[in-house]
Amino acid sequence: MTKLLLADEENLKAAAEIIKGGGLVAFPTETVYGLGADGLNEDAVKGIYKAKGRPSDNPLILHIQDLNELTRLVKEINDTARTLMENFWPGPMTLVFKKTDIVPSVISGGLDTVAIRYPSNEIACQLIRVSGTPIAAPSANTSSRPSPTKASHVYEDLKDKIDMIIDGGSCDIGLESTVIDVTSKTPVILRPGGITIEDIKKFFPDVCYDKHLTNTDENIQPKSPGMKYKHYAPSGELYILDGDIEKIKEFILNNSDENTAVFTYDEYEIAFPYTRSLGSINRPKDGCKVFFDLLRECDAKGITKIYSIMPSKNGVGFALFNRMFKASGGKIKKL
Ligand code: TXA
Ligand code: MG
Repeated sequence: MTKLLLADEENLKAAAEIIKGGGLVAFPTETVYGLGADGLNEDAVKGIYKAKGRPSDNPLILHIQDLNELTRLVKEINDTARTLMENFWPGPMTLVFKKTDIVPSVISGGLDTVAIRYPSNEIACQLIRVSGTPIAAPSANTSSRPSPTKASHVYEDLKDKIDMIIDGGSCDIGLESTVIDVTSKTPVILRPGGITIEDIKKFFPDVCYDKHLTNTDENIQPKSPGMKYKHYAPSGELYILDGDIEKIKEFILNNSDENTAVFTYDEYEIAFPYTRSLGSINRPKDGCKVFFDLLRECDAKGITKIYSIMPSKNGVGFALFNRMFKASGGKIKKL
């Protein structure tokens, strides 16, 4: 039986006991809910892959709340890593380092690197602190489903497969952290997220995206193994509609039925029964916060087709576009 509990001190202590004993606890972070286990306990980490149905070559992030922990987990902290850590930790940023032998290879999916994150969410930090170990945590969803931004999403996917869910309400950001490779001098963004390329450019003007993020050619393999899998997918088909808004409205009217949903923005009024707003087109963080929740809502309502209007790709809008693109399986309709 999976316990669903509020994040008070007593429950966090009980959660930490489960982690120390090799069990699985889902907990909130500022990005999405994570499915945590003791990151230095191989069997516990294997339990994460099993509960999620996750391919074993897709490595996990280790979560810490004390910078002193880093030295035993990673081989080298170069100046690039240091600058990013000083400016963006704690927060929605994950750094990829060369790993030490203490990190089990089940965490790193057989790579010689390890991804580390220092979250800002107080509940997450407290759980890591009381557990006294780095916590391995992927997003707490069944593999390939939309990431969970509420405790109820975790329950939907993982009830009876994990020991406990700590309910900390809705996640602030709603999309996963920015993953950055810092094994060389120039940082490379492997997954866009809450910390944007514009934020990083202030310190590293030559920061770039991994090639697969800006090129939709399927032959280019992403450096972050997780980005190659089908991801964030709703049960229905999702199409991104891009182009003139009047043409988009016409297309929707001519190509929908009672099981179609439309994701739009406050600025565009669309006269369609099942319409949901991704907030303001000029404030993509609105869309980040609700996107996964809306995908799950559509599943629950039996929606078979979703038309989502192209977001602005500025700032965190690029991360929203990335998740939307993956959820659509690459289906963009130009109008
Ligand atoms: O916001 C987040 O990052 C959330 C919360 C719970 O912290 N976690 C999360 O974990 O999104 P997950 O497992 O769903 O995504 C981790 C991503 C995957 O794309 C994985 O391939 C990549 O990070 N990753 C992990 N270790 C890596 C490594 N050593 N090298 C390259 N990419 C790595
Ligand atoms: Mg995930």
